[in-house]
Amino acid sequence: MNTPWYHKTTIYQIYPRSFFDSNRDGIGDLKGIILKLDYIHQLGFETLWISPFFSSPQADTGYDISSYTDIAPEYGSMDEALQLIDEVHQRGMKIVFDMVMNHTSIEHPWFKESRTSRNNPKSDWYIWRDSHLPSLGEGLGVRAKPNNWQSLTGGSGWHYSPERKQYFWSSFLPFQPDLNYRNPEVKKTMSDTVRFWLNKGVDGFRLDIFNVIYKNAEFRNNPFSFKLLPTEDDPSGFFQEAKFNLNQPESFAFAKELRSVCDEFGEKILLGEVSGDRSIIRKFLGDDVNNGLGLVFDFEMLNFQFSADYFRKLIERIEIHFPDPFMPVYVFSNHDRRRSIHKLGEDLRKAKLLALLQLTVRGVPCVYYGEEIGMTDLPQPFNTAMDPVPHKFRSIPRFVFDLLGLTINRDEVRTPMQWDSTPNAGFSSAGKTWLPVHKNYSKINVERASKAEDSLLNTIQGLMKVRNHERSLQEGSLEILSGLPKGILGYTRKLNKEKVAILLNFDPQPRKFEFEYSECLFKLSKTDNLANAKLHLNGYSGMILKA
Ligand code: GLC
Ligand code: CA
Repeated sequence: MNTPWYHKTTIYQIYPRSFFDSNRDGIGDLKGIILKLDYIHQLGFETLWISPFFSSPQADTGYDISSYTDIAPEYGSMDEALQLIDEVHQRGMKIVFDMVMNHTSIEHPWFKESRTSRNNPKSDWYIWRDSHLPSLGEGLGVRAKPNNWQSLTGGSGWHYSPERKQYFWSSFLPFQPDLNYRNPEVKKTMSDTVRFWLNKGVDGFRLDIFNVIYKNAEFRNNPFSFKLLPTEDDPSGFFQEAKFNLNQPESFAFAKELRSVCDEFGEKILLGEVSGDRSIIRKFLGDDVNNGLGLVFDFEMLNFQFSADYFRKLIERIEIHFPDPFMPVYVFSNHDRRRSIHKLGEDLRKAKLLALLQLTVRGVPCVYYGEEIGMTDLPQPFNTAMDPVPHKFRSIPRFVFDLLGLTINRDEVRTPMQWDSTPNAGFSSAGKTWLPVHKNYSKINVERASKAEDSLLNTIQGLMKVRNHERSLQEGSLEILSGLPKGILGYTRKLNKEKVAILLNFDPQPRKFEFEYSECLFKLSKTDNLANAKLHLNGYSGMILKA
């Protein structure tokens, strides 16, 4: 079977509010993305994933949608959305929208109607339940939540609505009520929403918190667990095992249904935001054949350690869980987590080595805007945050989260793109931008990076050229090399007769060792070399070699 395009692609994630502001209101917009398309094209990325820009009260900056088929005015118009799709395609690129299917905004007309009574036409579109102690009664003022489930942000996800004298369920925050996919009308309407955008030419979707889309039909209580905080490989936490509110069998089945909706339009990407053990998240892709979501994120690697040993083990485990015909995704940053540069001690040599790995390992790389220039997080106080999450945790001192390595205030990783050293980093010519621009913009920006031959930006561009040229890097099999010196990670990528080897030195010391390859396709450091079957790699350096 031919490898689908979305298994060979490279993804660049845009957070539209922070990419480029074309009309001086301090907010990035669709026109702004259009104006910067050549930049992404020249960098060499094929696919753009754009975080939501649909109608929304923006209580969770667009992840709270009030109309799936309208564009929020601050981002532009439908015409501009269509122009964006078209301009992306004209450059031979692909465009992926962010589909927040699990929940709407509390302001969505569907929810407004649903909450009015227990018998309106939309009454069953959301997840409504009675108190589990109805007989204690309102009269006594005693109410008990329908069950013990916790939301993904901690605390009960059940919220009381006096109109219906019932609770509605929110997996994330109280103003993001979950839709009820056990109602066929909901499923049909949302499938038609997917069709609506496919008809307009989008190449697929990133699926927001897709692992919570179905909940246990009987609403059984979750069992107790000693786990305090959810982790990437195990979403259980807040002292309970998340057994009945996520990763349900119905969600795996729905992944296949959604795939068949997409198949009506050809080969489309479905990239699931899911979390849990790899053997579980793999189920979203299909059983033995690729007939579910085409790709899922694997967030464990966001907590990577910078060592050859860590990455060797990571790749080995990933190869076990995502063998052909599946394809893993390699992602180190996004709009919810700390930028990877922090884990690298802001060392650009390390960032280049990580990019070498991400763009040559077997998998689809997904790069968050600004990573290519080493943009850093901007610490900001919780109490003035745009992001609703830190407001929930205002009573807990910040150092607690810092110690735990948690990004609670996601504003910190969403600051405006740093284009050049003019005011507001060239992001906007407004007086004030929606989030402050990082003070380091005169040092860290695209213009400056593009002029420095050995910048991270130019390194990534160079790597992308090699990747886009070598089919073995896009779809070849992977084999880890053994017998290499300590601190060196090496693997080969092979497709038919084409074979390349990638060698990465994770140690600060240079290394010299025997290696029989004929040609060097790429090296991170000018003084790395391969001569007479001897390979010399500088500290934190790496190479791509051809057999
Ligand atoms: C996902 C998004 C995040 C959003 C949440 C609720 O995790 O990545 O930004 O707040 O879902 O939609
Ligand atoms: Ca704007």
